[in-house]
Parts: sequence; structure tokens; C-alpha cells
Amino acid sequence: MTFSDGFQQWMQGVQTSVETTLERSLPPAATVPVRLHEAMRYAVLGGGKRMRPLLVFAAGALFDAPAAALGYAAAAVEMIHAYSLVHDDMPCMDDDALRRGKATVHVQYDEATALLVGDALQAQAFSVLAEAGADLPPQRQIGMLRVLAQAAGSRGMCGGQAIDLASVGVTLDRDQLEQMHRLKTGALLHASVLLGASCGKTLDDMERAALDRYAHAIGLAFQVVDDVLDATADSAMLGKTAGKDAAANKPTYVTILGLAQSQALAEKLRMEAHDAIAPFGVAAEPLRQLADLIVQRKT
Ligand code: IPE
Ligand code: IPE
Ligand code: MG
Ligand code: MG
Ligand code: MG
Repeated sequence: MTFSDGFQQWMQGVQTSVETTLERSLPPAATVPVRLHEAMRYAVLGGGKRMRPLLVFAAGALFDAPAAALGYAAAAVEMIHAYSLVHDDMPCMDDDALRRGKATVHVQYDEATALLVGDALQAQAFSVLAEAGADLPPQRQIGMLRVLAQAAGSRGMCGGQAIDLASVGVTLDRDQLEQMHRLKTGALLHASVLLGASCGKTLDDMERAALDRYAHAIGLAFQVVDDVLDATADSAMLGKTAGKDAAANKPTYVTILGLAQSQALAEKLRMEAHDAIAPFGVAAEPLRQLADLIVQRKT
């Protein structure tokens, strides 16, 4: 997977390779308990944009990270993400019936299975991440486990989800909304960038600061665009129910800033992301193109 073949081909290469790693990292569907393993595979395989794996590989490319390690790190983050979607869709949270163009896990199976799918995927993610660090120094490996744990936990994704649920019908100010978005979505995207980089050579302080700034910008941009798409795209395009945020009375960038200003903010964050990685030169082209994709995507 070299980038010289062009961005589209590079993306397809990463997506295919991550699909294989995910497929192999999940227990076979025939393994007992069959229903749980089937549902885990249903939740993870064959869908989604794989944006977090792409970020892992793009950041890894900057630091000569080996593809095998990146594959495991990418699969680990995607498993946490897939678990977060399964729980996000449950009746006790957003109560959604459509995800990645198919029935959500609790609809296709049942609520208890959906709960356990999330639990099991979270545990499996850390097991897979341990493989990513197998050839790295132990301190680095522990650091990577910590990065994912913190991004997934109550001061990361779960914390953001808690704020999201507590904010139904509430008017948040812009800082509060930004904090919610940074946690519920930004944290895992940030972790994707850091984990990819961690699979390669040791970063100096300036490199680390540049990556942090990039990840911060695209992390927020991603959820701003998610809010915009919820208000502007249709369900068939998104593969999930459009218009849910307004229907559920959730505060979003669209409700706080309006559409035009939300789009302008996303664009500003895209430029911020570009600016952050400028010192890396052409080697950062995959990260640059991913920032564009995150902001300009239609799904
Ligand atoms: C959706 O994430 C949920 C958010 C965190 C905004 P994605 O838009 O990356 O969903 P998939 O993985 O492509 O299905
Ligand atoms: C979800 O945010 C963020 C997660 C941690 C899953 P949303 O609730 O906006 O995601 P969608 O729109 O259902 O994908
Ligand atoms: Mg939600
Ligand atoms: Mg949702
Ligand atoms: Mg949304």
C-alpha cells in the first residue's frame, strides 16, 4: 500500500487489508456462543467508511510503521468505534433502526445481544491492540493501550456520550457543545492518529505537537460534518436515519450556528489540519487528503 498509486487506491488498499485483519481478529461465527459471535461480526464486518483505520495508516506512513502493526492498531480502534455505534443505536440511547445500510444490532438480534456485542468488542479491541505492539518496546506498547483506554473511557468517548444524553432538550453554549463533540467523536479519531504514529519510529516533541494539532482539528470537524449531514443528507445516502438530531431534540452545531456557519467552521478546521501537518511535507499527503475527505464527504 504505497501512496504513489493515488489516494483512492491507497484507501482501497487500507480498507481491504483492515477488513481482513478484522475478519481474522473476530471469533468465527460458528464458535459458541454462536449468536453473540454472529452479531459481533454483523456489527463490524462489511460496512462503514473505516475512517479511523485510514487515519491509523496515514499517521503510520509518516513514521515508517510496519503494515502488520498498523493493521492491528486499526482493527482495534475500529472495534471500539463499532461497539460505540451498537450502543449508540440502542433504545436507551439514540434508538435507531438503521446503521451502515442495514438493521441495527438490537433490531436484527435483540437488546441484550447488542449490549454484549459492545462489551465483547471492547475487550477484543484491547486484545488486538496488544498484537499491534508485539514487536515494540514494552513501554511503547503500554502507552498505546493507555491511549485507547483513555480515548474510549469516561474522559473520552463514553464521557461524550453521557453529555450527549444529558443534553437532550438542553441549550448548550458553544464551548459546551465543542467539549461534547471533542469527547464523543474527537477522542477516538485523535487516538487513531496517535496509535498509527506509535507503531513507527519515536516521535520528537514537535512531531507530536503537530500530530496533536491535526488530530484535534479533524476530530472536531468530523462531528461538525456529522451534524450537518444529519440535517442535509438522506437516510439512503447516509445508511443511517437522517434528521434524527432535530427529531430527538439534540443540540448540534446546526442548531447552535446554523448550516452555513457550521460548514464554514468545518472548512476552517480543514485548513487548520493542513497547517498543522505542513512541516511533514509530502509524506503527510494521506493525512492531508483525509482531512479533505472528512470535511467534504457526503456520507
Ligand atoms: C459515525 O461515525 C458516528 C460518529 C462518531 C459521528 P462514522 O461516520 O465514522 O460511521 P461509519 O464507521 O462510517 O459507519
Ligand atoms: C455518536 O454520535 C458518537 C458515538 C460515540 C457513537 P451520533 O449519535 O451523532 O452518531 P450517529 O449520527 O448516530 O452515527
Ligand atoms: Mg448519539
Ligand atoms: Mg446516534
Ligand atoms: Mg450524528
